[in-house]
Amino acid sequence: MGVPRGSILLTAEQIASRVDELARSISRDYAGKDLLLVGVLTGAFVFLADLARALTVPTAIDFLAVSSYGRSTVTSGVVRILKDLDAEVAGRDVLLVEDIVDSGLTLSYLVRLLRERGPGSLRTCVLLDKSECRRVPVALDYVGFTVPNVFVVGYGLDHAGRHRNLPHLWALKGHRDPGEGAP
Ligand code: IMP
Ligand code: MG
Repeated sequence: MGVPRGSILLTAEQIASRVDELARSISRDYAGKDLLLVGVLTGAFVFLADLARALTVPTAIDFLAVSSYGRSTVTSGVVRILKDLDAEVAGRDVLLVEDIVDSGLTLSYLVRLLRERGPGSLRTCVLLDKSECRRVPVALDYVGFTVPNVFVVGYGLDHAGRHRNLPHLWALKGHRDPGEGAP
C-alpha cells in the first residue's frame, strides 16, 4: 500500500467515531427533509461514502470536481470546475461535503456557485479544518476535526495523487502548508 513518510494524525477508528457523530447531527437537523449531498472530488469521496451510509434521512448524492492551478500542494486560489453536478440544485436542501478547508478559497467559491443556483438551503460539512490557514472567511456548519498546519494524506486526501486509499490520516513529514506566508 505504501506507508507515507510521516506520522498518523487520526486513526481510522477515531475518524469513524467522529463521522458517526456528524451523521447523527446531520440526520437530526435534516429530519423530514430530502438531502442532496454534494461531494467535492476527489478528496471527499471516502468521507462522503462513510458519512452517507451513516445518515438516516433520505439522501441523494452527486459530485463535482474542481482543480486549482499551480503546484500540487500550493493553493493558488484559482478554482476550475472540471466536472459539474448532474443534479438540479434549485429548491433542494444541499450539503456540500469537502475533505479539508485550508485557505477557504475552494469552498467559498463553491458556496457562491451553488448559491447562485437557488438551493432551498445550503450548508457545508468538512472533515478537516486547518483553521489557522484561513485567508477568506467561509461558514463551516459541520466540522470533523480542527487540524494544525500540516500536510495531511489518507482517507481520500492525496499528495501528488498518492495515498488516498490509506485508512488512517497521516501528517506528511517536512510538508507544512506552502500556502502559508506565500506571496
Ligand atoms: P483551500 O482552497 O486552500 O481551502 O484548499 C482546499 C483544497 O486544497 C482541498 O480540497 C484539498 O484538495 C487541498 N488541500 C489543502 N490542504 C491539504 C492537505 O493537507 N492535504 C491534501 N490536500 C489538501
Ligand atoms: Mg479537495
